[in-house]
Amino acid sequence: VLDWLAPCFGMSGGLLTPGSTLANLTAIWAAREITGIRRVVASSEAHLSIRKAARLLGLALVEIPAAPDDTLDSWKLPDDLSDACVVLTAGTTNVGAIDPLELIGRARWTHVDGAWGAPLRLSATRAPKLAGIEHADSISISAHKLLFQPKDSAIVLFRDALQASEALQFEAGYLAVPNVGILGSHGAMAVPLLATLLAWGRDGLAARIDRCIDGADVLADSIGRRDDLELRRYHGTGIVVWRSRCGVDVDALVAALPPGSASAPTIAGQRWVRHVAANPCADPAALIDAIGAAVSNHPRGA
Ligand SMILES: Cc1ncc(COP(=O)(O)O)c(C=O)c1O
Repeated sequence: VLDWLAPCFGMSGGLLTPGSTLANLTAIWAAREITGIRRVVASSEAHLSIRKAARLLGLALVEIPAAPDDTLDSWKLPDDLSDACVVLTAGTTNVGAIDPLELIGRARWTHVDGAWGAPLRLSATRAPKLAGIEHADSISISAHKLLFQPKDSAIVLFRDALQASEALQFEAGYLAVPNVGILGSHGAMAVPLLATLLAWGRDGLAARIDRCIDGADVLADSIGRRDDLELRRYHGTGIVVWRSRCGVDVDALVAALPPGSASAPTIAGQRWVRHVAANPCADPAALIDAIGAAVSNHPRGA
């Protein structure tokens, strides 16, 4: 599975992990072992797993306030990054923003947290959004997001997988081969992903990813056209965030929408309705109708 996926991202190999929290921790651990970095630098919109990783690894965390477009503000990066791992997010959790990937290479190590967005690389039309990702030192991908796997499926990829594996390996007399990474015994995490790759192939995966993002594009366009709704900047990566301009309460809206179709994050101090396009069978027209009904059935300020 790793031999199949890693080259799609310009990487040479990696490890499967149960989720991107552990994929991010593994990548930053490798960065620390290989390069001796002392700081993790990430935007305020980075996932909380980056904070966890810095804490667990005893590294200082430098949080850079996100720019108004929710991406890492490169003007606020420290000049000297020779002791730092910069984490760039490809598809932020709240809004799907992609940090400037041209920053790859500026720090001692660059990790791209592509938990959400990295699979766009498999789509011919969306891959340009991730131009340059192949220069990263490591990349995390949640296979249980846009690779359509059951939960507990993620991947950490390394540009130099041999070096990473040597840095993260432990020998013990009872083991036939060294143990690499955080996990000891674990289930056959690769099997469902292997079945998916065999059944759908790259084209099948890309078609489903495109169907998800096409649906989100349609939804974002429809919300953006309405005078009574405010669309938060849409990044074209399948996460659509909006609210009522007429004071309709966010919780009331989410409660009125189909169960599981929306969440209500607080972003920069304000509440929004958020949809994540991870289901290629979802019907954007039905969601657009449901949003229309939810907005019109709730009086202002209700
Ligand atoms: C950008 C990003 N990174 C990391 C994670 C953590 O992934 P997991 O929940 O698989 O541990 C998430 C989860 O939503 C995420 O959005």
